[in-house]
Amino acid sequence: MKNVQTRIDELRRLIVQHDHRYYVLDSPELEDAEYDALFRELVQLESAHPEFASSDSPTQRVGGRPLDKFGQIRHSVPMLSLENAFSEEEAREFDERIKRFLATKEEIAYVIEPKLDGLGIELVYESGRLVSGSTRGDGEVGEDVTQNLKTVRAIPLRLRAGPPPPPPRLEVRGEVFMKRNDFLALNERQEAEGEKTFANPRNAAAGSLRQLDPAITARRPLSAYFYGLGAEIGLASHWDLFQRLPSWGLPTNPLNALCPNIGEAVESYHRLRESRATLPYESDGVVFKVNDARLQRRLGEVSRHPRWAIAFKFPSEEAVTRIKQIQVQVGRTGALTPVALLEPVRLGGATVSRATLHNQDEIDRKDARAGDWVFVKRAGDVIPEVIRVDLGRRSPGSRPFKMPDSCPVCGSVVVRPEGEAAHRCVNAGCPAQVKERIRHYCSRDGMDIEGLGDRFVDQLVDKNLLKDVPGIYTLRAEDFFKLDRMGEKLAQNFLDAIGRSKSRPMDRFIFALGIRHVGDHLSRVLAQRFPSIERLEATPLEDLQAIRDIGPEVARSLRAFFEQPENHRMIRALIERGVRPTPVKPPVDSPISGKTFVLTGELQQWSREEAERQIREAGGRVTSTVSRKTDYVVAGTHPGTKAKKAGDLGVRILQESDLRKLLEPT
Ligand code: IVH
Repeated sequence: MKNVQTRIDELRRLIVQHDHRYYVLDSPELEDAEYDALFRELVQLESAHPEFASSDSPTQRVGGRPLDKFGQIRHSVPMLSLENAFSEEEAREFDERIKRFLATKEEIAYVIEPKLDGLGIELVYESGRLVSGSTRGDGEVGEDVTQNLKTVRAIPLRLRAGPPPPPPRLEVRGEVFMKRNDFLALNERQEAEGEKTFANPRNAAAGSLRQLDPAITARRPLSAYFYGLGAEIGLASHWDLFQRLPSWGLPTNPLNALCPNIGEAVESYHRLRESRATLPYESDGVVFKVNDARLQRRLGEVSRHPRWAIAFKFPSEEAVTRIKQIQVQVGRTGALTPVALLEPVRLGGATVSRATLHNQDEIDRKDARAGDWVFVKRAGDVIPEVIRVDLGRRSPGSRPFKMPDSCPVCGSVVVRPEGEAAHRCVNAGCPAQVKERIRHYCSRDGMDIEGLGDRFVDQLVDKNLLKDVPGIYTLRAEDFFKLDRMGEKLAQNFLDAIGRSKSRPMDRFIFALGIRHVGDHLSRVLAQRFPSIERLEATPLEDLQAIRDIGPEVARSLRAFFEQPENHRMIRALIERGVRPTPVKPPVDSPISGKTFVLTGELQQWSREEAERQIREAGGRVTSTVSRKTDYVVAGTHPGTKAKKAGDLGVRILQESDLRKLLEPT
């Protein structure tokens, strides 16, 4: 037992240390696979030895229970915002102003920092432990996003010791953001899961952090850099802060620099502006901050801006072009997406000819119309976005855009469900939806039917050979012969691939159904818990919600899916046609799932029923007699003979508090 605890401690230390090297020092020592191996070992040991659970173990960054609504946190010192400069002249005026205010002719030293395009946050550490995290909010009061921030791996749950050691209370401020690559990968995943994509990395970061369900945040690739303080801690300069933060495990931007005067600060600005496109994240300017802490205090603030700092903005990479037409596309879930077809224009090294307009609200906000001249920019340097309309050049006859009342593909009624931004085509049989659903079903992450990609699906549906997902399994060689450039060999390949798909693992099958919000991760979570699709279909809302990783929105989406008669029919038809997903093993990463429990004695905080329900919902089994097969005996007060028997058999005995820890890891 001693050895296990030692190894667990060692693994935790190693992982924290490698996280630090990766996120703070930016010099990883381990290959990803080696890191993963350490992590897996820790997960396994902790799950086999729940008595060593600890809420600040690196394995606990998975997100706890969903919140109903964010609480509020008042910042002890208001979080100010920055004034902007848009030209070198304005940047130099800022320096002049400071010298006038301080009545000095001496040069002022500045720290320059790339301005990150993310979300300002404040973390509070007490005795080195993260106790709260909040958004900037209105500057005075922010939202309590502690649970979400705890899932961000760049944020230490405990500070490192320095030297010098951190102060007893540290209020540290910084930016949570998403790197360009991570943003693109996230959008791809969102798309595959039939969920909304984000317009740019900033929105993606903000949307990810402001999730009521921390389990969702945990799956979003967020990064963070720190650059400021709430309450002062007695530092002589801002640059000193950048020496301290990394030694406490808080990542800072390696491009921050100390400049002896405004001339060098402006030069640094130009250098960063040159390399802007190659930065791994989006930056919209450079922040200049007076380095000397005493000068900062003397300068103070004016109308919510510090006098000692300014954001010198980059010109945004924009181009002007014309909207030829606004086209409406229909996705798998029937959501209608308006897309602006543009006169092709060069932008950031590529030619842009389409830009998403997201939904009716976005269009209304921008008042974008067909024929308008518009400014476009590239969000995340890849997805082009219309930023605003040049109203001066609008032609007199133009009309506001309105989503069609009927689906542009099938003509069915279009509705906008309450509380949603998207309009949807109500016809589940709409060819556009059918094609998307079939593509999704056949996709690599779904049932992986090799070769059945866009081109063939389009043809099969257009030629009326395929009208729904189960139809895939009644396709015959003759049907394939009706397609362009189809030979006997290729047709046989398709039939073989279709045959092979009948026994894919359960998680692939769940993913392939295309349930809203259910992507590859949640498909796996569900598959591990439900050996058959019938069991999943029959599970009521409350039980779904009680599963770790499944938030209220996902649970509702699952219920809504299974309650649709068409979906029920589709699943029955697939099974009738021989689809037999193979069950997958229960998760190794839950300390409870697959384990057998016996309860004895009186519990203090829970009724027996409640404790049993929680164990079952976390994937465990509850039985009434202790045997060698029992994994844990939970002993309340006045435990009976069962606890004694457990002792005799060497079965581990848990206190009620241990059980609670196992069930609620954060
Ligand atoms: S300093 C008192 N430094 O920009 C100074 N802000 O309008 C307050 N930001 O809300 C902020 N990068 O979220 C500072 N290196 C940086 C920054 C930065 C991004 C954001 C921050 C703030 C906004 C200021």
